[in-house]
Amino acid sequence: MKNLHKSVMINEIISFLPLTRSINIIDATFGGGGYTKTILEKFNVNQLLAIDRDPISKIFAKEIESKFSNFTLINDKFSRIEEIVNNSKFKDKKFDIILFDIGTSSNQIDNAQRGFSFNKSGPLDMRMGASDKNAYDIINNYEEKNLADIIYQYGEERYSRVIAKEIVKKRKIKFISDTIELSNIIKKCLPKKNNQLKNKTHPATKTFQAIRIYVNDELSELKTSLEKTLKILNKDGLILVVSFQSLEDRIVKDFFNHNSGKRWRSSRHYPELPDKLATQLKIITKKPILPSASEILENPRSRSAKLRVAQKI
Ligand SMILES: C[S@@+](CC[C@H](N)C(=O)[O-])C[C@H]1O[C@@H](n2cnc3c(N)ncnc32)[C@H](O)[C@@H]1O
Repeated sequence: MKNLHKSVMINEIISFLPLTRSINIIDATFGGGGYTKTILEKFNVNQLLAIDRDPISKIFAKEIESKFSNFTLINDKFSRIEEIVNNSKFKDKKFDIILFDIGTSSNQIDNAQRGFSFNKSGPLDMRMGASDKNAYDIINNYEEKNLADIIYQYGEERYSRVIAKEIVKKRKIKFISDTIELSNIIKKCLPKKNNQLKNKTHPATKTFQAIRIYVNDELSELKTSLEKTLKILNKDGLILVVSFQSLEDRIVKDFFNHNSGKRWRSSRHYPELPDKLATQLKIITKKPILPSASEILENPRSRSAKLRVAQKI
């Protein structure tokens, strides 16, 4: 299987890594292995533990495994990061670098059979790995209000109620089973100006994002995992997170702020917290780092990426 994923902001990521000191690293979102490979080739890595919930990651890990004995891939969710470490040969190890490049890889989006793409006909699935939910079940069985809430909450789609109503109307005639079928239903619910070609964002973008986030429980995954990193990071160790949409970025920003002694909550998805948490982090990137114009030109999927970095103190 050919790796179709182009790693995003890899140069910015590696600019934070120490060049000579021996380091232990977790790549919590291995994907096609782009970050892992570059880091193993260029840095003095003691051990690199990679995690990915998608079983296809095992295919991309093969070549790396054959070249590097200090590389291990675990096919699991990153919300179990602490358990993964403690149930493996890494038990009681602390890490110097923990990387997250969240969202989906091109190997997932561009495979029509996975059901992530509104541009390619495929089954309504959207599972990144093992999950008790799938898009078909949600679209065809959830009550209209529940569906509208999901589309609004996880897609920030202002036409969520209209879209949910139309989905329910259409599924009474015939179950909705194909991504293009769903995409066409959504298209009809949005005002004409949102459907014009000059509008760069596809009208189904927000609804597909919402369903995907819900199917994979992505926001809870991120929150749980970030909390756990604090227990397995070395003093002076770095957490680097690349996110691709505002809900995720807010979670990262809040997590960094709260744990660096600030009292601030930007997202309604983040639970209420005590006034001030113990200071465990220092924020390294006051503002997120964005991809360069040339990277966006070369890889348009990088355009919404934001990199935030914090250091354990
Ligand atoms: C954007 S890709 C990472 C690409 C990688 N940095 C590279 O250079 O090839 C995101 C990956 O994270 C994985 N992923 C997303 N959520 C996850 C989770 N909760 N636990 C584990 N892996 C997850 C996806 O399956 C996907 O392979």
